[in-house]
Amino acid sequence: MSRVPMVAGNWKMNGSLASSCDLLEKIEEQSDSIKGVDIAVFAPYIYLPAVCEKLKSSSIITGAQNLCKYDSGAYTGEVSASMLQDFSVDAVILGHSERRHVFGESSADVAEKVKIAVAAEITPVFCVGEKLEERERGKTEAVILEQMNAVIDLCGVEIFSKVIVAYEPVWAIGTGITATPEQAQEVHAYIRGLIAEQNSSIAADLRLLYGGSVKPDNAKGLFSMNDIDGGLIGGASLKAEDFISICKSAID
Ligand code: 13P
Repeated sequence: MSRVPMVAGNWKMNGSLASSCDLLEKIEEQSDSIKGVDIAVFAPYIYLPAVCEKLKSSSIITGAQNLCKYDSGAYTGEVSASMLQDFSVDAVILGHSERRHVFGESSADVAEKVKIAVAAEITPVFCVGEKLEERERGKTEAVILEQMNAVIDLCGVEIFSKVIVAYEPVWAIGTGITATPEQAQEVHAYIRGLIAEQNSSIAADLRLLYGGSVKPDNAKGLFSMNDIDGGLIGGASLKAEDFISICKSAID
């Protein structure tokens, strides 16, 4: 097994141009000395040109937080995969729970986006996760299965050789309540198992990130679990020191 861990910062709709550049400079200063983990930042669209320019000769991966499922046309307010390609954006978060539950994206929408991103050679960080009430009703696996199957049915399981999956339980996002390493591991093992049923080598190489209130003091416990290959970090990615500390937790 040779999965390189990844720690990715999802900046969501936070910061200003000045604060984003400042944050990036601080991350960049230290990231060069951290080997053995892929570091990524997912910036708001409007700051992506500046972020891409700053990171041109850096190993930090640049990502967007969404893309449109259509190529071009009368889709006011949307951004296409080819527009992201213009700035050499490497990756894109798709199906984040805030997109699913605040903006009403369906699993079918998300699957189409995954397909279009892979066709454009932009790596999707495809998010899945259950709400609290779904967990309490014992529906966690059923929810994850539906979200995963939407992509498998549209694209075939082979697409997961080009996709990173992030398990983000909705009840842990921005709440300060983190899934325990055991709770997260259980779902990660379930996701890897789903892929393994159809293709064991894709499953073995699939990178699975955990997201939901990851902080410097809980990252190591989570990242040390067998099927957790790093994290997708919200709030703590906005503080360079915390983010760097979390990146280091993925390797030591
Ligand atoms: P928090 O780390 O703020 O809980 O956010 C997690 C997340 O949604 C990352 O995509």
